[in-house]
Amino acid sequence: MRSVYAVIVLLIFAGIASAQNDPALSKGEALFNANCAKCHGVKGVGTDKGPPLVHRIYHPNHHADLSFRWAIERGVRAHHWGFGDMPKVEGVKTPEEVELIIRYVRSIQKEAGIF
Ligand code: HEC
Repeated sequence: MRSVYAVIVLLIFAGIASAQNDPALSKGEALFNANCAKCHGVKGVGTDKGPPLVHRIYHPNHHADLSFRWAIERGVRAHHWGFGDMPKVEGVKTPEEVELIIRYVRSIQKEAGIF
């Protein structure tokens, strides 16, 4: 029985390690840090210029991936918070970059137990 638990624990650690080494996630993190973190904070915790994205308001059922695409492409009018409008993000050029950022944000939301 004990060895079964040992195997389970090993599998969990292997899963965590591989997620951290996922090159797509590190690219997403780099893009996020370059384009979003000045307002949404490193690791999405928020700053005095923008809300945390690691927050239950931005749970995938409440803000689907499409709202991230639109936020980046068109900007956002302030409606949930008092930080003002979010300007569209010029530094993110391609749909692939948008996808990498969304994957990264979903991964840190998941890590924080949002979903
Ligand atoms: C200049 C500051 C700023 C930058 C840079 C910025 N945001 Fe925002 N963002 C905001 C603010 C402020 C809001 C909150 C608007 C509100 O009151 O609902 C917001 C809201 C959002 C929302 C919620 C959209 C909705 O439909 O409610 C998403 C998603 C988002 N940002 C993603 C991003 C991503 C991804 C990046 C980087 C590519 C980014 N933001 C860069 C300031 C910023």
